[in-house]
Amino acid sequence: MDQRDARDDWRGFEAGRIPSKRATPHLDRWLDALPPPAAGAPAPCLLDVGCGTGGLARRLYDRGFSVVGVDINPAAIEAASALAAPADGRGRLLRFAVADVAADAPPRIDGAAFDVVVCQLVLSIIGGLRERVNLLRHLRGALRPGGGLYLSASGVSDTINPGYARLYAEDLPRTGEHATYLSRDERGEVLYMTHHFTAEELAALVAAAGFGGVRVSTERESSSRRPEEAAYFHYVTAAAR
Ligand SMILES: C[S@@+](CC[C@H](N)C(=O)[O-])C[C@H]1O[C@@H](n2cnc3c(N)ncnc32)[C@H](O)[C@@H]1O
Repeated sequence: MDQRDARDDWRGFEAGRIPSKRATPHLDRWLDALPPPAAGAPAPCLLDVGCGTGGLARRLYDRGFSVVGVDINPAAIEAASALAAPADGRGRLLRFAVADVAADAPPRIDGAAFDVVVCQLVLSIIGGLRERVNLLRHLRGALRPGGGLYLSASGVSDTINPGYARLYAEDLPRTGEHATYLSRDERGEVLYMTHHFTAEELAALVAAAGFGGVRVSTERESSSRRPEEAAYFHYVTAAAR
């Protein structure tokens, strides 16, 4: 079985090539439906986990949240820091920090318990089951009770894309896990490992980490790195118990 360490893959990943999704209609609709803060109350605090170069965090800040973005990749955090903003009159700020959210110990993130945690396209690439469980546990730990989680992850896609069926089978001896494959660059060099979840698997993992009201919505879209490849994506919302 492949012994690669997802943390090494992502610490050294070229910041400008970190995969992302610019359009976030599910997230936008979910945020629109959250109760607005009371008049005069401080801006709600949001944690963007695995924020990459900070584009999504900046858009969330522009929507009125006080945002902290964390990522394991120092070059990505350096690039994101160009988007940072100091605290305004409502205490609303945008800042970024390097943190590993897959370790057994919770990451040290300054700030009060968060009202909202956003984790886009991270759970699928963070490593194996242990790292996924750690990540979800840390997301729960960062939230105040009742705080909201929004998470997106890749879905099992072999029924709509034979390329994925082939990749799952070819890479199984190296990954040791069904619906997991090695994402490669144009030259065939392995970049990182990706796991595709079933909706049931994802809902069970999120619930086991201490979340209630777990909802999973599944959409047929295309791969974030390879737009010509059809793929399912899951959009999960939940509340910290
Ligand atoms: C597919 S990218 C998604 C980036 C961003 N969420 C977005 O949607 O634009 C995954 C991100 O997770 C980060 N990451 C991977 N492992 C991590 C870890 N253990 N702790 C913190 N961030 C991690 C990577 O560095 C990368 O920026």
